[in-house]
Amino acid sequence: MQIHKTDQDVTVLNDMTEIPGLGFLPINAFVIHADQPVVIDTGLSTDDKDFVSWLGQVMDPADVRWIWLTHPDRDHTGGLYDLLEAAPQAKVVTTFLGVGILSCERPLPMDRVYLLNPGQQLDVGDRKLSGLRPPLFDSPATVGIVDHKTGALFSSDCFGAPLASGDAALASDVRAVGPDDLRAAQLLWAGVDSPWVHNVDPAKFRATIDPIRDLDPSTIFSTHLPAARGLNRTLLDMLHETPDSPPFVGPDQAALEAMLATFEPPEPVETPPVPA
Ligand SMILES: [Fe+2]
Ligand SMILES: [Fe+2]
Repeated sequence: MQIHKTDQDVTVLNDMTEIPGLGFLPINAFVIHADQPVVIDTGLSTDDKDFVSWLGQVMDPADVRWIWLTHPDRDHTGGLYDLLEAAPQAKVVTTFLGVGILSCERPLPMDRVYLLNPGQQLDVGDRKLSGLRPPLFDSPATVGIVDHKTGALFSSDCFGAPLASGDAALASDVRAVGPDDLRAAQLLWAGVDSPWVHNVDPAKFRATIDPIRDLDPSTIFSTHLPAARGLNRTLLDMLHETPDSPPFVGPDQAALEAMLATFEPPEPVETPPVPA
């Protein structure tokens, strides 16, 4: 896990996970150091993660005012309920559907919720944040964020990429990855995470890229990519290609068995004779 401070009033809490056969996927949460501090997403849900302690290296968790979930997938909600306890003033920014999805696992107190749809704004004291539906998404509750003070875009899963190494996934800047490798990994991820992109009208899909082109973000912060600055054209050209990219088909049972067969068998354990 890494912590990357940026000059955009943003700290990146940068974790990653290895996806067998695909690569190393960054898993990012963020802090916007606004007058009313905003935490965007809350990390992986595995037992070995302690998101609140990790956040404590960046700020006092008790000062968090907003927990904006870009969407309620489990790679982004790990520290949610612990942070709600640690930050008594904080409200969870999500959608009506987001509350419903979260409540299937554990009820979310409705007085701790702030419902916000794409196109709506949240005032966090020294700046306004807008909700934006990114072109690619894997949850109907997805809402990305535009910071109107810095021009940064938080794109949720859109623009993600499984990368070739753990070091690449923990880098502070995506330019650590070569442009051809980045494009291939992003197109792969688009097919993995948003397979519907192959079934939609390409012209209508491409029209959803225009608001980001018009916005011309100062930095694109994806939940699954190192920070991307000065690469808008490259990233938007990649999105343009996604309807025509090869669909992803995951490994099947035969592939799993072939993979398991390559594993070393465990050493036989000698059991001592049982005394009669
Ligand atoms: Fe997701
Ligand atoms: Fe995700």
